[in-house]
Amino acid sequence: MIIRDYRNEDYGQVLALWEATGMGGPERGDDERVIRRTIRAGGKLLIMEDEVTHEVIGTSWLTCNGRRIYLHHFGIRPDRQGMGYSEFLLEGSLRFARRKGMQIKLEVHRTNARAINIYTRGGFKRLGDYDVYIIREAGADADEE
Ligand SMILES: CC(C)(COP(=O)(O)OP(=O)(O)OC[C@H]1O[C@@H](n2cnc3c(N)ncnc32)[C@H](O)[C@@H]1OP(=O)(O)O)[C@@H](O)C(=O)NCCC(=O)NCCS
Repeated sequence: MIIRDYRNEDYGQVLALWEATGMGGPERGDDERVIRRTIRAGGKLLIMEDEVTHEVIGTSWLTCNGRRIYLHHFGIRPDRQGMGYSEFLLEGSLRFARRKGMQIKLEVHRTNARAINIYTRGGFKRLGDYDVYIIREAGADADEE
């Protein structure tokens, strides 16, 4: 497996992986344009690629708001899960945050025991009993890029 940066031609496979793992897609506001915007803003979409078949088998989307790195859409394609690849992908993600010299934060559903196990093993500490809020509607009068 290799870990590399996202390329535009990966989008179809990335979207298929996000949908197959229940991590969402354009209906959650995650599309090609948003990926490119987060990269321009100092983030990264890490791709785990099978170096033999060149398939995308994992993603880790790291966004940067200038203060912290946020980890999103950390997932392994269902037919490649359970093979220990997530540790390698997480290590690549943490390396990016270290290089930036920034804290790294994530949200994980409290029932997602597998992911929680991986994150705590990677050094993440639970923050406490916070609830998460969002406004999904982006606003019709938003400035075009
Ligand atoms: C979470 C995810 C990335 C983990 O990748 P994976 O390929 O399934 O996991 P790995 O094989 O790399 O490692 C899993 C580890 O968790 C452990 N594990 C497996 N099932 C578990 C469970 N139900 N509870 C706790 N730990 C579990 C395994 O034993 C293994 O640890 P080990 O190496 O000590 O044996 C993957 O399952 C995934 O993509 N899930 C869907 C998307 C998702 O939920 N992402 C997180 C969003 S916050």
